[in-house]
Amino acid sequence: MLDIRYELREELKERPGEDDPLSFGTIFTDHMFIMNYETGKGWHDPRVISYQPISLEPSAMVFHYGQEMFEGMKAYKTEDGRTLLFRPDMNAKRAINTNRRLCIPEIPEEDFVQAVKALVKVDEAWIPEKPGTSLYIRPFVIATDPFLGVRPSDTYMFIIILSPVGAYYKEGINPVKIWVEDDYVRAVKGGIGEAKTGGNYVASLASQVKASEEGYSQVLWLDGIERKYIEEVGSMNIFFKIDGKIITPKLNGSILPGVTRASVIDLCKHWNIPVEERQITIYDIYEAYQAGKLEEVFGTGTAAVISPVGCLRWEDHVMVINEGKIGEYSQKLYDTITGIQVGKVEDILNWTVEVK
Ligand code: COI
Repeated sequence: MLDIRYELREELKERPGEDDPLSFGTIFTDHMFIMNYETGKGWHDPRVISYQPISLEPSAMVFHYGQEMFEGMKAYKTEDGRTLLFRPDMNAKRAINTNRRLCIPEIPEEDFVQAVKALVKVDEAWIPEKPGTSLYIRPFVIATDPFLGVRPSDTYMFIIILSPVGAYYKEGINPVKIWVEDDYVRAVKGGIGEAKTGGNYVASLASQVKASEEGYSQVLWLDGIERKYIEEVGSMNIFFKIDGKIITPKLNGSILPGVTRASVIDLCKHWNIPVEERQITIYDIYEAYQAGKLEEVFGTGTAAVISPVGCLRWEDHVMVINEGKIGEYSQKLYDTITGIQVGKVEDILNWTVEVK
């Protein structure tokens, strides 16, 4: 259990009004959590302090070799004023796996969750309450040794910041257009694709810029070897409804194990909707489309929630899905997951955790 020190601000910032539009990740709350690590001393000095710039040497290892990890979570306000987190244990466990892969010292699950709760409690007045909004939580670790050789750092900072957010995509819950990338790849088995780390996201930028110039919001990645198996979108995992069945690529070492992905699979099983985690190729998708059996496509993610896909472009083929409209299952999953998150739908699978 962490012995957290509090150094809170006296003068608080102005918060956005309930009717102000919230975009994603531009406003930050009054406070942040920070804790340091040093080999031989372990994680120490956990504290909640004013949100502020951090001071690092230009030689800090994170700037040169990218030894860093991050997580994405959200806090929600219920109608009766409670503050809820959604499956925080899953983020804490995934952070441990990411840290192992990147040679970053592990943060025990209970300490990670305690730190998140402590910060959210201090800044809970920042949780927006309008439908579709929440308080985004960004925990991250950076390597801070001032050193230019390549090896794991001996010092780190674990920081958590908070940001009141609206929808991740400008489209909101309206379907997005996605470009299937067949040139660059995001990750390969044995690489760092299943770790939540900046390197996977910087690898996606060139394709994202290209897709955006063509009017597409995101890129769908294929596997790095055969260039035919569907992997993920980068900012979200991907699901297809084909002939009544929900299919998502099986986790294979290069796909991020999303918390919303796992929750969609759990809900489908709970509802007795056929759901399969398996390899699926872009050829299978195109064939299903041509046969009129590609009924829905949607992405899942903490930031993206459930994001319907209205159009998939692969080579010269433009596949318009469900006439570009949100599908029945996408809507039901969105309503159920967001409903559970804000306490409006019964939490049948015990996913929410109250911050007290
Ligand atoms: C999240 O969904 O929380 C992520 O970390 C994805 C990121 C692109 C915003």
